[in-house]
Amino acid sequence: MNVASHALRCTQCGSESVGDSAPADFRCTTCRGLFEVVYPWSKAEAGQPESSPAEAAAEARLPNASALRWLWQERRTSTLAADQSGVWRFRDLLPILKDTEHPVTLREGNTPLYELPRSAAALGINWLLAKHQGINPTGSFKDTGMTAALSVAAERGFEWVACASTGNTSAAMSAYAARAGLRSIVLIPEGKIAWGKLSQSIDYGAVTLQLKTDFDGCVRVLNELIQRLPIYLLNSVNPYRLEGQKTPAFEMLEQMDWQVPEHILVPGGNLANNAALGKGFEELHHLGLIGRMPKISVIQAAGASPLVQSMQVNGGRELLPMTADTRATAIRIGNPASFHKAVRTIQSTGGWTEAVSEQEIALAKAEIGAEGIGCEPASAVTLAGLKKLVAQGKITPEERVVLILTGHTLKDPQYTIDYHRGALLTEQEMGEASLRESARHHELRREPMVLDVDGDTVLHTVARMVESGAAVPA
Ligand code: F0G
Repeated sequence: MNVASHALRCTQCGSESVGDSAPADFRCTTCRGLFEVVYPWSKAEAGQPESSPAEAAAEARLPNASALRWLWQERRTSTLAADQSGVWRFRDLLPILKDTEHPVTLREGNTPLYELPRSAAALGINWLLAKHQGINPTGSFKDTGMTAALSVAAERGFEWVACASTGNTSAAMSAYAARAGLRSIVLIPEGKIAWGKLSQSIDYGAVTLQLKTDFDGCVRVLNELIQRLPIYLLNSVNPYRLEGQKTPAFEMLEQMDWQVPEHILVPGGNLANNAALGKGFEELHHLGLIGRMPKISVIQAAGASPLVQSMQVNGGRELLPMTADTRATAIRIGNPASFHKAVRTIQSTGGWTEAVSEQEIALAKAEIGAEGIGCEPASAVTLAGLKKLVAQGKITPEERVVLILTGHTLKDPQYTIDYHRGALLTEQEMGEASLRESARHHELRREPMVLDVDGDTVLHTVARMVESGAAVPA
């Protein structure tokens, strides 16, 4: 495999360029559209004549569908670092490096697919799973994309890499850059990212610049930087990130014995991840590994929902940017770069968009926590959105749903502590809760108690809870 094995294609005007000749900002020089990586076997949807899966595989000298499935399983027992990575184990479908057997890897991927039985029962649906991408080396789904794009940066001889971030991309980039011996620069909105994430980029040795602006402002400054200095851009406009981020689709299907779920729900921020997963499913479909596509829906926080609003106002033809505000700081984005890719993913798969309130996010996060799983606030929008889609009859009880949980609960412990202490939501926000939601908040809250060091006090407190059943998770 080598760079000639792939090309970059503009998702707007369709023009193609060789992988290593892409502009520094990864925007098409003709129309400013974003690129995607295409391979000889994945080109059919570009308007070229559709080839059969067998023809496509033969053209790229790929093993056939069942041989691929066997090979990917076989690599699980190997001691090669690339085989132990949940991204590079699937390297046959991401030949973006000259040497895909020696990428920059922290053994990312290999994340669990959990059942959420209590949330499913509360919603009256039979089947609810969560693919927990927070169980990655730096605690978020960004690692799967970063191993891919950082490996490209290293192979092409860059010394400096940079990103603007709401915290998770910066954590992942800094870690992978450190592994590869590259220098990294992080631009983050001052005071608007969770401490866990800020501490990571510092720990991994990045030059960390906190700018007195929001994420969208950081992106603007970064674009100026990369035009003037030889710095490799690692935001999700970099199409190689998406090649890594498509692989959880492969892993999920392996974990489901190649049964395709009806619905995938993804949180939406800069809007690249839904498109990456959509690309993964599309390629499997094209190669005949699956017989149909799942519907991919994108859920946003109401205070940062430019996709939802644009879909409502103009059917997704034009992005209506907004000034974003939500406590789910990971997705506090008002001018998402991958807007058009997300519209295409939703429309081509038949999915939906939904916006959820701060109160709904907090409740969903507490419910995922009470299942013993936990996630960061941005990930919990998926469960909050699912409730709406079920209530609207768009998702029916017998359909199988997978939520993509994007970040680990330890990314933002302050949010969790504030919630359980009753200090997170305002009275007005709580006033928007239905009676059922208020009752659920009440059941789930576990405020830490400070007690005197006195055996009797502790005994009486615990005895009261045991007798009332209050200690049993709701
Ligand atoms: N969930 C988490 C935990 C995130 O960190 C992000 C994005 C998203 C969801 C949204 O994904 O942007 O592909 O739609 N975080 C970026 C960052 C923006 O800088 O860490 P998206």
